Amino acid sequence: MCGIIGILGTTDVAPLIVDGLKRLEYRGYDSAGVATIDHGRLDRRRAPGKLGNLQAALDARPLAGRTGIGHTRWATHGAPNEANAHPHSTPRVSVVHNGIIENFAELKRELEGYGRRFESETDAEVCPQLITHYLESENVGPVEAFRKAIARLKGAFAFVAIFTGEDNLMVGARKGSPLAIGRGEGEMFLGSDSYALAPFTNRVTYLEEGDIVVATREGFEIFNERGEKVSRPEMISSAADALVDKDGHRHFMAKEIHEQPEVIAHTLSRYIDAANETVRLAENAFDFSRLSSLTISACGTAYYAGLISKYWFESWARLPVEIDIASELRYRSVPYKDQGGAIFVSQSGETADTLAALREAKARGQKIAAVVNVPESSIAREADIIFPMAAGPEIGVASTKAFTCQLTALAAIAIAAGRQRGTIDDMEERRLVRALLETPRHVAEALRQAGAIEAIANDIAKARDVLYIGRGVSFPLALEGALKLKEISYIHAEGYAAGELKHGPIALIDEELPVIVIAPPDALFEKTISNMHEVMARGGKALLISDRAGIAAAGDGLWASIEAPTVEPILAPIVYAVAIQLLAYYTATNKGTDVDQPRNLAKSVTVE
Ligand code: F6R
Repeated sequence: MCGIIGILGTTDVAPLIVDGLKRLEYRGYDSAGVATIDHGRLDRRRAPGKLGNLQAALDARPLAGRTGIGHTRWATHGAPNEANAHPHSTPRVSVVHNGIIENFAELKRELEGYGRRFESETDAEVCPQLITHYLESENVGPVEAFRKAIARLKGAFAFVAIFTGEDNLMVGARKGSPLAIGRGEGEMFLGSDSYALAPFTNRVTYLEEGDIVVATREGFEIFNERGEKVSRPEMISSAADALVDKDGHRHFMAKEIHEQPEVIAHTLSRYIDAANETVRLAENAFDFSRLSSLTISACGTAYYAGLISKYWFESWARLPVEIDIASELRYRSVPYKDQGGAIFVSQSGETADTLAALREAKARGQKIAAVVNVPESSIAREADIIFPMAAGPEIGVASTKAFTCQLTALAAIAIAAGRQRGTIDDMEERRLVRALLETPRHVAEALRQAGAIEAIANDIAKARDVLYIGRGVSFPLALEGALKLKEISYIHAEGYAAGELKHGPIALIDEELPVIVIAPPDALFEKTISNMHEVMARGGKALLISDRAGIAAAGDGLWASIEAPTVEPILAPIVYAVAIQLLAYYTATNKGTDVDQPRNLAKSVTVE
């Protein structure tokens, strides 16, 4: 999603803004721009495409000025061209925006009625136009004009504005999309997240819903929705410590896939008492023995992690689980039960649909927990309970290590739920904890298949379509495998429950179609292998992912196989995830696509 940076600096800020924008590249974008105030004069450079194009525009015509804003745009209204790129300006003000303004069409008509001329197709441009309208027609100052404009906007957004003639003023607003203030020495920063601010300062204050910040180099004041002056806590952000480099890998995605043994171990350390082989949850966590039901919700990959955990909660804790995609759950009239709990899963902690579903469940009396990677995020701050996942910053747009850390945290929570509800005994808890503690080692072993998987991926890269199938916990992993492949290689892929094949998708099978069969040797292994034979009998190309014994038991005629370590079958998704991630990664690198920033995708989806 769009990235925002604003700086009240002590030297020319355009180069600093471009550096900050680089750290926001991971969010996904398709154009970028910078505006500065120099000796009271407003000027800007914008360019479609990657930041290199903006840099070239700045090299050709540098921008001076110690006050500036910058933006990476992920197009929602209007094509990703220069005219639609931010900052949007009038002669009086320049504005960057993240989010969606729902009532922009009616505001645009109203402003055009006053004779104001728009130069872009974006919803964002109504903001500088409205501010200018108030500056000129009501003769108010910049802060008041900004406040009046924001009050007219409906939707979910964050804004930062700078003003002609005002070299020591930057104003920002948060409603629905995050915005953070960074305090420097005689400098002030605004940014979409703490990663953007990390090169400049680790002293970060997050705006809350409806807040407006008025910043100068010397300090800032925050006003809530009712215009009252408020104070918000300053935190010391850990983002500055995060090494945002590729560590010798070609892509962030490869680095993040290879980090999994370490980050899974970190996540385990937050939940497991290794000496006693038990799970320990924070004091304030759910009392699972009293929960009437559990709702789980998330989007995309995080949703598939939730779906796998449904099998764990049901099997170990005998707890009824309602699970849905957040964009659906938020609008369903769910008959929530009294004493119910709800878990929302999110890497970024800023996904708009997940946050909205969380708020709805909270309003309906559910106790809210979040499995979240960014501890300062909106979802973390609005949850009653935080279940951390220690994945570290995930920069590649396709989620990999966050997925396995989400699974790790959810597995530990589900084991604790089973113990609290008396549905597993301490021997079973110890057995499962031992199996969980083995996962970093197994994931490291799974990574050793990278070379073999790359060779197979070179063939997958020629396919037009790919099917993934699995049963039980391997069914959501099949969905995740298909998502991973399609998002980074642009090959059409579908995941199916293996038992569902003959209800329709089997019609697709021919000698061109690779079918990836995820089958750890569990209670459903034989059934999945029968489904695989049905594929093979119709000329389909079966690629089996299983352990050595599983591959041997599957018999002859496989097109290919990927050998996974032998693991506790119900925990297999954490380890088998590596194979589907590497398969997608090498298929994409073979095709030469932009692995870390696939087309049309954003890392943090802060619009509905
Ligand atoms: C896919 C992917 C997305 C995210 C989804 C939720 O690789 O990364 O499907 O999982 O957008 O994002 P978070 O976890 O940040 O809420």
